[in-house]
Amino acid sequence: MINNFIFHNPTKIYFGDEVKANLSLELANYGKNVVLVYGCGSVVKNGIFDEVNEVLKKLDKNIAYIDNVMPNPTLKKLEEGVKIARAFKADFILALGGGSVCDYSKALAASINYDGDFWQEYFINQSEPKCDVVPLGCVLTMCGTGSEMNGGSVITNEQTHQKIGKVFQDRRVFPKFSIINPKYTLTLSKYQMVNGIYDAFNHICEQYFSDDFDNVSDYVAEGLMRSIIVASKKAIKNPNDYEARSNIAWASTLALNTLIHCAKSGDWMVHMIGQAIGGVTNATHGESLSAISLAYYEYILPYNVSKFKRFAINVWGVSDDEDDLKVALNGLKAMREWMCELGLSINLKGILDESLIDEVVKNTFILNGGYKELDANEIAFVLKNSL
Ligand code: NZQ
Ligand code: ZN
Repeated sequence: MINNFIFHNPTKIYFGDEVKANLSLELANYGKNVVLVYGCGSVVKNGIFDEVNEVLKKLDKNIAYIDNVMPNPTLKKLEEGVKIARAFKADFILALGGGSVCDYSKALAASINYDGDFWQEYFINQSEPKCDVVPLGCVLTMCGTGSEMNGGSVITNEQTHQKIGKVFQDRRVFPKFSIINPKYTLTLSKYQMVNGIYDAFNHICEQYFSDDFDNVSDYVAEGLMRSIIVASKKAIKNPNDYEARSNIAWASTLALNTLIHCAKSGDWMVHMIGQAIGGVTNATHGESLSAISLAYYEYILPYNVSKFKRFAINVWGVSDDEDDLKVALNGLKAMREWMCELGLSINLKGILDESLIDEVVKNTFILNGGYKELDANEIAFVLKNSL
């Protein structure tokens, strides 16, 4: 662990099905005015909304509702929510949903008491909040993003087609608590389930494929990836397999709660390109990542064959061989087979038209933590190879 780091994750996790009791316990610590934020109806249909609402009512909370928070939440929706929460004098924000609802709630929490332009301040300037932040908690219904235990918030500006993530370092923006009940995820469609699984898997890859020194984070990352592979193969055959779904849920949280980022720089270019695709097309987050991953990793593999060889052997169980390149490529082959077994999109067909590539390239933030810093031409090359 040759790099310095700070590890401080303040989010308390309640894992399992005792949702009502744990939620009551936590909410008793906060003020009367609770804003309940949720998505476009899944929680109403499957009854989770009623369970949570009942807890709030029993505690005699005043409740304001912000509903219809869409996947890839927009700036316009955030502006509407800020108005509602300000008028209501919110004491607490309760996010009920997946990554989109959690991300939205964090942006809301940091914006309610901010007088200026919060898009410019947090997403363009990437500043930290200088105002009071309203505390928030999450009841998670979809796993993958890790938003339930991190400071990340991704918002899409529909006007400019920019989808930008702000990873808040300020611990006040992290959820005070998150309730992860794997049973709540059982009503997800297979499409959402596998895209969430791939999102979590890719979060681990993004952190794993950076730096060269020996460090604990990479060993933990390999274990998490192996757990996701085993559990996902079970879940795709039987989506009601609680053991598999609960392992997917916890591995997803650990994949992006900063644990395996300790002492690592992180690549994050699949996410940067995927986010740019999302801004232009509104594609599902996990799908925008899976569609470009194989082309991306094939492109960067030559810049660190030994790490891709390690990935092949330790994660995919590929046999060792004197030919390092062959072993490394076999790792990506195994990954491709797994992605196909899950039914993930492995190219951009139906997601991005070739005519939009220039716009995606223009909107991609280029980071330099991975094994190869890409330029605009290389990003375009990866996208073309993903078509
Ligand atoms: O809106 P509703 O009706 O609730 O339906 C949602 C939505 O259509 C549905 N869903 C959620 N729970 C369900 C369910 N359907 C049936 N049963 C349930 N239990 O699933 C759909 C997708 O939900 P969403 O929250 O959009 O998915 P996800 O959790 O993948 O979140 C995606 C957002 O998170 C951002 C992404 O960019 C995207 O905007 N990310 C956030 C990160 C972070 N905070 O660290 C990191 C990620 O890399 C990612 O960028
Ligand atoms: Zn992601």
